[in-house]
Amino acid sequence: MYAMKILLIGNHGQLGWELERTLATLGPVTALDYPEIDLTDTRNASALVRDLRPDVVVNAAAYTAVDKAESEREAAFALNAAAPRALAEETARLGAALIHYSTDYVFDGAKGAPYTEDDLPAPLNVYGESKLAGEQSVLEAGGAALVFRTAWVYSLRRPSFVTKVLSWAQKNPVLRIVDDQVSNPTWARALAEATAQILAQALVDGAPLDWLGERAGLYHLAGGGYASRLAWAREIVSLGGLANPPLVEAAKSAEFPTPAQRPLFSALDCSKFEATFGLRLPPWREALHLAMESER
Ligand SMILES: NC(=O)c1ccc[n+]([C@@H]2O[C@H](COP(=O)([O-])OP(=O)(O)OC[C@H]3O[C@@H](n4cnc5c(N)ncnc54)[C@H](OP(=O)(O)O)[C@@H]3O)[C@@H](O)[C@H]2O)c1
Repeated sequence: MYAMKILLIGNHGQLGWELERTLATLGPVTALDYPEIDLTDTRNASALVRDLRPDVVVNAAAYTAVDKAESEREAAFALNAAAPRALAEETARLGAALIHYSTDYVFDGAKGAPYTEDDLPAPLNVYGESKLAGEQSVLEAGGAALVFRTAWVYSLRRPSFVTKVLSWAQKNPVLRIVDDQVSNPTWARALAEATAQILAQALVDGAPLDWLGERAGLYHLAGGGYASRLAWAREIVSLGGLANPPLVEAAKSAEFPTPAQRPLFSALDCSKFEATFGLRLPPWREALHLAMESER
């Protein structure tokens, strides 16, 4: 196979936008997002895969509004659980591969050390529950499916923690940011590039679908190292080039009640991914530096 036919879903999102660009080197990419495709209409989603007959489906679409999900359980499960199940069943039936993304929020954050794929998930919120149901059904479908659990994804193109901190920093002399939530800040572009590099490795092998099938499963894939929201915000402010940067002070999550409870320490250990594919995402500070240099 000299090229892969790829169906990318969710190309307007943080990750999907980057994927559309990085996947283009591998073969023809059909990129769709809501409203051209409504993934919650699972029959339609399956029919799309059947009609297009891609070699690989990359699903970057998701219900990512963590707080809103608490009051929109059904909508979160439709997009994060039922839709990936339909995609996984259809790709398995057709012998195509599926790349799907999940989250560190499947964990409760009580371990106190980076989570491996062997750790037991115990989500604290509806978003985490719906993503856990999604990843489980993708893996159960038994096809050539790779699920990448990632964390704290950002880009500067869409509202993210990075754009929020920059905007707060322009308006306030003091920012109070929590120091008790810790995970791996992950630049959407680095995650997209790693995904494309895996597909490139599969292509070089000559039998890409077999290659992917042999490596099917769950992997943690997030920015290198980990940080508290406070350390992340301080770095954003220091790279922000502001004439009058604000003071960034430590706060606690308990001071900012939100509808969804978040895990406190949900950093991911990505060594299984590194050992399998010989790749890793850059350390989070380096990636942030690159992101702020290239995306602003
Ligand atoms: N963001 C994070 O911090 C984070 C952390 C861990 C894991 N992840 C996972 O990483 C993946 C990518 O996240 P992201 O931050 O790139 O997400 P995102 O920016 O929120 O993008 C999600 C995309 O899905 C689209 N979408 C919404 N409803 C849809 C529907 N019914 N049918 C088809 N598409 C629909 C959205 O369109 P609209 O914009 O029009 O709604 C958007 O383009 C997801 O699986 C997410 O769960 C994200």
